Amino acid sequence: LSSAEEILVNHNGTILPAGEATVPAMDHGFLYGDSVYETLRTFHGRLFLIEPHLDRLLRSLEQISLALPAPREELRRAVERTVGVFRERHPGCDLSLRLVVTRGIGPIGLDITLCDQPRYLIYAFALPRLPAEYYAQGIRVVVSRVRRNHPSALDPRIKSGNFLNNILAYQDARRTGAHEALLLSADGYVAEGTTSNVFLVRGGGIQTPSAFGILDGITRQVILEEARSAGLPVEEGRIPAERLLECDEAFITSSVRGVVPVTRINDSVVGDGEPGPVTQRVMQIYDARVARECGA
Ligand SMILES: Cc1ncc(COP(=O)(O)O)c(C=O)c1O
Repeated sequence: LSSAEEILVNHNGTILPAGEATVPAMDHGFLYGDSVYETLRTFHGRLFLIEPHLDRLLRSLEQISLALPAPREELRRAVERTVGVFRERHPGCDLSLRLVVTRGIGPIGLDITLCDQPRYLIYAFALPRLPAEYYAQGIRVVVSRVRRNHPSALDPRIKSGNFLNNILAYQDARRTGAHEALLLSADGYVAEGTTSNVFLVRGGGIQTPSAFGILDGITRQVILEEARSAGLPVEEGRIPAERLLECDEAFITSSVRGVVPVTRINDSVVGDGEPGPVTQRVMQIYDARVARECGA
């Protein structure tokens, strides 16, 4: 790995290069995907929205009956320390962090009481940046043939390390050279991207799927909050798949990428094929929130 590609891993308090960090073969996170995680980023070296990310991590843990591996405060300090160590090695570098909590070691078997010591791992690496033209010109997304996990099977609100549903859907994006794949719910409504939430704009109003059957993204929440206080009309609800081809504008959101305009869906051009005025306004209000929290 070149220095810019270095990944550091804080494993229960010990920080090592990723190549030297190991997880035991009997960890149920590895064996069964029995883990939860958060992805967050820094702006100017400051963690953006760490508290909402920790809140969601705690909710995910609770939903799978997994205990915190360390008190919340200690986890937050561990994240901050990992950022500090990474930035000592790569001054001025903004980074992405992945905070994983796994079930820990236990014999083969599905009984969660077989594992009594959850572990945490914090991965720190240089922020993967999208090319500037993605923000300026928009990206293409495809609607995947893979449907989002049904909430009564594996609730997408749990930010689970079991990511096969999303990995299978992403293959449809790769196959067609699209940036992201959108998943529909089992009954055919728009759900979310493989690692993003989706918003449509019609007649000046913003629409996004309600927070059921999807991950309630932290960026999604920020956009809803900021758009409402800026007086933009916003609606959460059920969005039939056909509406993807009838919208004037579209964009996706995630912690790592922020707000990215979507100008093509499958083989159709969205609106006039350029990021529209509402999308551009949303990008501005997101940037303003970042500047308020982390400095310009
Ligand atoms: C399935 C899924 N939906 C939505 C998102 C966006 O969420 P956030 O804004 O919290 O990053 C992610 C982020 O990784 C995701 O994996």
